[in-house]
Amino acid sequence: MDFTGKNTVVTGAGRGIGAALARVFHDRGANVVLADLAGAEDTAASFASERAVGITADVSTEAGNKALVEAAADAFGPIDLFFANAGVGSGSTLDLTPEDVWEAAFDVNVHAHRWAAKLLVPGWLERGDGYFCSTASAAGLLLQIGSAPYTMTKRAAVSFAEWMSVTYGDAGIKVTCLCPQGVNTDMLHAGDNEVSGADVVKAAGAVLEPEDVAQQVADAIEAEQFFVLPHSEVANYMKMKASEPERWLGGMRKLQRHVLGN
Ligand SMILES: NC(=O)c1ccc[n+]([C@@H]2O[C@H](COP(=O)([O-])OP(=O)(O)OC[C@H]3O[C@@H](n4cnc5c(N)ncnc54)[C@H](O)[C@@H]3O)[C@@H](O)[C@H]2O)c1
Repeated sequence: MDFTGKNTVVTGAGRGIGAALARVFHDRGANVVLADLAGAEDTAASFASERAVGITADVSTEAGNKALVEAAADAFGPIDLFFANAGVGSGSTLDLTPEDVWEAAFDVNVHAHRWAAKLLVPGWLERGDGYFCSTASAAGLLLQIGSAPYTMTKRAAVSFAEWMSVTYGDAGIKVTCLCPQGVNTDMLHAGDNEVSGADVVKAAGAVLEPEDVAQQVADAIEAEQFFVLPHSEVANYMKMKASEPERWLGGMRKLQRHVLGN
C-alpha cells in the first residue's frame, strides 16, 4: 500500500511504538489520527501538520472504538488503515493476577482489535479495499515468561490477525501483524510490570528503538506483508517450537530459571 493520501488511525499513539508508527506513516504521506487515553493531542501537535490529528479515546470498550472510528472519519474521511496498537502489559502468575487485570488485558489487547474490525470491515468489503494492522508481540508467537495474561492475549491477537487475513484477504482486505521482542518504551521499563520487564526482555535479545521498528512496519505495509518480526531470531524460535516442542519448552524453562532465579 502506498501511504500517500491514505487515512490512517493508530491507537496507543500518544507515546512509544504508536507515536513512532504515526510519525512514519505521516512522513510517508498519510493523514494520521493518533488515538490514546492521554497525550495523543500533544503528540499530534508536535508533528505541526494539518495531516495529523490527536483524539482522546479509550479502546477498552466497543463504544470507545465506535466513538474513535466516527471521530477519525470526521477528521479525514473514510479510514483506509486502522492500526490496533494500544496495549497493556500488566498481570503475572495465576495467584498474583486479579480478575480485573485479566479483563483489562483481554479488553485492550484482544477485544479492541475485533471491535474496531467489526466497525470497519463492512465498509472495506463494499470498497474492496482496507488495511487492518495490529501490534501483538513475540509473546503471542512464543510466550511471555512470568505473565499468563500477556501470553494469552497476545496469542489471541496473532490468531485474530491471521483469521482476518484468511477470511477477508480474497476480498481486498490486507492485514499486517507486528510481533516484536523488546522495544525501548515506557511499557518495557514500567517498574510494576512483570510482563515485559527489562530483565526478561534483555535476556531474550536486543532492545530496539520504536523509530526503527516503525520504519520496518511501514516497509512491510508498503509491501503488504503479514508478519513484521523486528527481532529475526523469533522466526527461528518459531521453527524450533514447531519441529522440536519439547526442546523449545525446555529452553524456555531454562531462560525462566535464569531470569527469575528459580
Ligand atoms: N515495548 C515492548 O517491548 C513491546 C514488545 C512487544 C509488544 N509490545 C506492544 O506494543 C504496543 C505498544 O506498546 P509500547 O511498547 O509503545 O508501550 P507504551 O506503554 O509506551 O504504549 C502503550 C500505549 O497504549 C495506550 N493505551 C493503553 N490502554 C489504552 C486504552 N484503553 N485506550 C487507548 N489507549 C490505550 C497507553 O496509554 C500507551 O500510550 C502494545 O500493544 C504492547 O503490548 C511492546
